[in-house]
Amino acid sequence: MTIRGDSSATGVNADATAAAARVRGWLAGARRCLVLTGAGMSAESGIAPFRGGDQALWARFDPARLATPEAFAADPDLVWAWYLWRMAGVRAALPHAGHRALAALAGGHPHLQLVTQNVDDLHERAGSAGVVHLHGELFALRCAACAAPAALPALPAAGQAPALRQPPPRCRRCGGAVRPGVVWFGEALPAPAWQAAEAAARSCDLVLVVGTSGLVHPAAALPAIARRHGARVVEINPSPTALSGAADLCWRATAAQALPLLTDASAKPGG
Ligand code: APR
Repeated sequence: MTIRGDSSATGVNADATAAAARVRGWLAGARRCLVLTGAGMSAESGIAPFRGGDQALWARFDPARLATPEAFAADPDLVWAWYLWRMAGVRAALPHAGHRALAALAGGHPHLQLVTQNVDDLHERAGSAGVVHLHGELFALRCAACAAPAALPALPAAGQAPALRQPPPRCRRCGGAVRPGVVWFGEALPAPAWQAAEAAARSCDLVLVVGTSGLVHPAAALPAIARRHGARVVEINPSPTALSGAADLCWRATAAQALPLLTDASAKPGG
């Protein structure tokens, strides 16, 4: 995956009531729907996104030292300690109403494919099944040398001051260093995940893009692929992004505010 573009584009904004009504109508009429989520989806669960504001991860930490295969080779103890800290944070986090709304939406829409760039498991814990993880899964540890799966070690308590360095566990098969199951910068996405996501983009009528800056490729290309194949694109994000200009509708709201308004329950009179 690589970074491309900027976040300066603006799209067609809509207020919450109008946006919710319009998107519910589009959802009802869509034969196939793709939902693409990014780090903003998890923000209201207390997991900091990578970009946007001084609390964002890549404003506080250097991705070149933490999120590349070269960084892990150069300083595995630093990288492993950082991922232990992140794993502990994710373990302590809970899915929010937006995660639950997406699981409910899929229940009522047999052809809704949820594709996430997030490496946490909040969609699954909210009840979503068949989630495509484009950037891997934090807890799917494997050996950096032989790719054998590895067991999760004890995690530090969330909120505990993180260790700056911690040696990664060793692979039980070959003795190599164990790494997190994420896709780092410069690495290829897992082929089955990308193929599933691209197929969903080509065949859907509607894309909901939730909480992504749209700067990291190839994931950020999915809405444009869908659009070229005739789909409508809706962006749900409190801020403009690199994808806003190509959206049919930009709904300036957070994931937990907007997504519950799309479920059947909220569509009922008085709901
Ligand atoms: N609800 C919806 N969107 C939000 C919220 C929220 N509560 N809070 C923040 N956002 C938006 C921000 O405005 C921003 O556009 O979420 C987006 C987060 O952007 P990034 O942090 O860049 O996340 P993402 O696009 O998922 O990053 C892609 O970059 O470092 C890599 O591998 C990492 O998967 C990640 C990839």
